[in-house]
Amino acid sequence: MAGSETTSKLLVSAQDANDYVKAVLQANGVSEQDATTVAHCLVAADLRGIDTHGVNRIPSYLARVRQGVLDPTAQPTITEKTPVVAQVDGKNAFGFVAARLGMEKAIDMAQIYGIGMVSVKHSNHFGMSAWLVQQALDAGMMSLVFTNSSPALPVWGGKEKLMGVSPIACGAPGSEHDFILDMAPSVAARGKIYKAKRRGEKIPVDWALDKDGNRTDDPSAALEGVMLPMGGPKGSALSIMMDVFSGVLSGSAFAGHVTNPYDPSKPADVGHFLIALKPDLFLSSDEFKQRMEYLYNRVVNCEKMAGVDKIYFPGEIEQLTEAERRESGIPYVAAEIEALNAEARRVGVSEIVVS
Ligand SMILES: NC(=O)c1ccc[n+]([C@@H]2O[C@H](COP(=O)([O-])OP(=O)(O)OC[C@H]3O[C@@H](n4cnc5c(N)ncnc54)[C@H](O)[C@@H]3O)[C@@H](O)[C@H]2O)c1
Repeated sequence: MAGSETTSKLLVSAQDANDYVKAVLQANGVSEQDATTVAHCLVAADLRGIDTHGVNRIPSYLARVRQGVLDPTAQPTITEKTPVVAQVDGKNAFGFVAARLGMEKAIDMAQIYGIGMVSVKHSNHFGMSAWLVQQALDAGMMSLVFTNSSPALPVWGGKEKLMGVSPIACGAPGSEHDFILDMAPSVAARGKIYKAKRRGEKIPVDWALDKDGNRTDDPSAALEGVMLPMGGPKGSALSIMMDVFSGVLSGSAFAGHVTNPYDPSKPADVGHFLIALKPDLFLSSDEFKQRMEYLYNRVVNCEKMAGVDKIYFPGEIEQLTEAERRESGIPYVAAEIEALNAEARRVGVSEIVVS
């Protein structure tokens, strides 16, 4: 995957992508601090190759701001419930802002008590979960990162969209190789269908059904139908699990009531569930990291199946992509740059710099 999309694409440096996002958001009423947070998270996704959840989401987020269903100036609040449990009320701010505050609090509690757990309510889409895992890793913490999301997936045996394609993510620090799992419980993330539609590309036929229940390679038809869960009932169950921990528990929308990001009628009311955990609770930090490194080496050096050249640790492909994109720039297609520039022109800030 690393570098596979760089040919015939327009390249933008991480710094220029970041500057663009900050400028456009600030011109739309977002504080400098919150614009910095959102820019960091979106550019992090593009750097890691998660193009579905990067800077290209700006037009849809700003559409929600203009529609009055996402409050770009809201400041989430924190309530402490026990020494290791807190609740964030996202106040319908950007999901990035509410979730970042939540993970910050979880880390603070974990630094004192070994574990910190934060429930976030009344939030919005926070994009790629791995940026939260990385926030915890930067503080030396293990983490669990759950969210719910708008209906896109049938439950096992069902036909209608009911559960979200809600990612499950977690991380643990290694001495050289961090573990970062960040996966949607569908065969593919729904954002990949939006991306294919944006880029005029077809999708694999095992990703989704059209509205009549037939397999399809047309992204528009797939968006009218349902995503397919990975592993049948198991993917469906993981999606329900995300809803239990993020929606039912928090007081946010659940059971199919999170608003679709492209539905302008009401706030999304997304919930998240975040845990930070100190890795040296049972062993010394050095011993933990050595054991992580041993695990890494066992995984990547195991005997390979036919046709496989290299085995990767979870998160490793994205780390390699990030290293490459920091050097070469982030690839976008012309239609994506045009949509971003339309947002810049609308508020009179500089267009994105393409190298
Ligand atoms: N906020 C939301 O509502 C929402 C909804 C859906 C998806 N997303 C985001 O979309 C992104 C994409 O999710 P996805 O499920 O399509 O990811 P994916 O299938 O590309 O990767 C899933 C996981 O598998 C690992 N992996 C992938 N290929 C591998 C390989 N060959 N060897 C070893 N490990 C490998 C990755 O490192 C990752 O941890 C995620 O960042 C997710 O957070 C967000």
